[in-house]
Amino acid sequence: MCGIIGYTGPLMARDVILQGLHQLEYRGYDSAGMALLTEDGGMYLRKKVGQVSALEAVCEPDIPAHCGIGHTRWATHGGVTDANAHPHAVGKVVLLYNGIIENYHTISRQFGFEGLATSETDTEVAAQLINYYYGQTGNPYEAIRRSIEIIEGSYAFCILFTDIPGTIYAIRNVSPLVAASSEQGSFIASDVTALISYTKEYFVVPEQHILTITQDQIRMETLDGTVVKPEMLEVTWDVEAAQKGGYPHFMLKEIYEQPEVFQKTIMPRLVEGLPNFEVDGVPDPLFQRCHSIQVIACGTAMYAGMVGRAIMEKQLRIPVSVSIASEFRYDTPLLDPGTLVIVVSQSGETIDTLAALRLAKECGCPVLSIVNVKGSTIARESDYVLYTHAGPEIAVASTKAYMVQLAVFYLITARMMLVRGAAEEAQVKDFIASLAKAPEWIQDALGQGDAIRKQAEKMAFSRDAFFIGRGMDYAFSLEGALKLKEISYIHAEAYAAGELKHGTIALIEPGVPVIALATQDHIFNKTISNIREVKARGAYVILITKKGVPVSSEVCDVHLEIPVEDDRFTVFPCAVLLQLLAYYTAYAKGYDMDKPRNLAKSVTVE
Ligand code: M6R
Repeated sequence: MCGIIGYTGPLMARDVILQGLHQLEYRGYDSAGMALLTEDGGMYLRKKVGQVSALEAVCEPDIPAHCGIGHTRWATHGGVTDANAHPHAVGKVVLLYNGIIENYHTISRQFGFEGLATSETDTEVAAQLINYYYGQTGNPYEAIRRSIEIIEGSYAFCILFTDIPGTIYAIRNVSPLVAASSEQGSFIASDVTALISYTKEYFVVPEQHILTITQDQIRMETLDGTVVKPEMLEVTWDVEAAQKGGYPHFMLKEIYEQPEVFQKTIMPRLVEGLPNFEVDGVPDPLFQRCHSIQVIACGTAMYAGMVGRAIMEKQLRIPVSVSIASEFRYDTPLLDPGTLVIVVSQSGETIDTLAALRLAKECGCPVLSIVNVKGSTIARESDYVLYTHAGPEIAVASTKAYMVQLAVFYLITARMMLVRGAAEEAQVKDFIASLAKAPEWIQDALGQGDAIRKQAEKMAFSRDAFFIGRGMDYAFSLEGALKLKEISYIHAEAYAAGELKHGTIALIEPGVPVIALATQDHIFNKTISNIREVKARGAYVILITKKGVPVSSEVCDVHLEIPVEDDRFTVFPCAVLLQLLAYYTAYAKGYDMDKPRNLAKSVTVE
């Protein structure tokens, strides 16, 4: 949430910052702004409601400045206005940030800042506070340190002092920041996508460390002044991975990348046809000792967990619960050290998921996370990590990350089958052999794009849509409905097919689209009966089944098929069909599905 970039070095700061903001725009796109320290000792500040292109239009070219900070906002405190956009300038301090200052009212009252504000944001209070202490001490480090002692909440700050040329200061708590130094200067950003054009070596800024960033070095100190050496990481993907590569949208590109990223995620973890987590350092006793599993995540990652639960309970016969992180963190969970907690997050920085992870650790549970972003906070705070290898996911609607989260759940299931003696080695090999066919099935689903596009055009102007299925199909439906609503703004709900007649069927009227999944043999006839119930009330039914299953033409208006025989693996092509349906519906409505309204890629506020 909110994108931050800071640069100091030989290049023109305006250009570096605008380029970085374009790369980070998926983190928030209500408004954008930048502040530059110019060569003549002045400060150049521009802020604009709208996307980064709107900011670019009001920034003159060739501004003589080599140091500056930029921000793309997802509004929390204060509406979407130019005044509320970042950076905020107070006295000699210019700052921007990502996060929420929980006690900004108290600070404002205590220090007499009320009435001085030019915006409605909590950010301005931080600028006022740091400026106050800078006035008292004349020392930037001390001004930041004293302010941080008072500020409560999560934050990532980038700060300029107008009388200290060429220098950026930064500090974070929870909200992410990465930094890098190269021949082209020094950089700080919310994530590596903004840095990758300049360097592949970077470090994750540790919490509560003050960074002093100058053209040729980054000095990092703890709050008691101890200098700390950063732990360097390397980006493993190329700059092209964060570009559209000829596709009209990141979302479509990412949907099409799924066969490849699936392979990348499972292949390094297969040894002689069996799952193996030695390269990840995940030990077998973790899987052998647990009596139950608790999955915690948000949004799409949580829906991947729902599929994970279905496959793990089926194969392992141990209880698996799935919790929404924002609920779990304020619960009084019934966990003990015998519960294996699996935390799922693409970004590795979702604040509710992180808080839930911390709570699980307080309960003494071992935590294994499934994360895409290397070195992210959730990855670092977990006891064990299984990284997904999706590469950067830029579209706000998660697609390829979901696919590889599923892949990892299936791998965990297979390893647990083996080490808990829940299946013979040969059965585990068969399970893995089926899993390894998923890229072919995904490819088949991708080949159905044209048929899906026609259906999407038909349902584009519907007010509502329903996704129904039983058992595992219900778990896939949840993700299908989320995808449709978040990018096409159609009200979409997923229902367990048998539950419809307990209320929701009242909403079925002639023409309303119902996307029905019936891929599970043992409940196929039951699901078909439920589909007949909605069809009898005039619904427009798009039915997805396994290939070759006899389906009467009265049951549905459109019949899509997937080439999977084994019920346990139908999620992989189904997920793609549902993603394409959402994508083409948003496309038919002319929406920008990479930047859906009100959303941002990673949710770093509660
Ligand atoms: O980065 P995370 O996986 O923790 O993010 C979780 C959700 O915010 C995310 O999956 C969200 O639901 C997506 N917009 C769904 O497409």
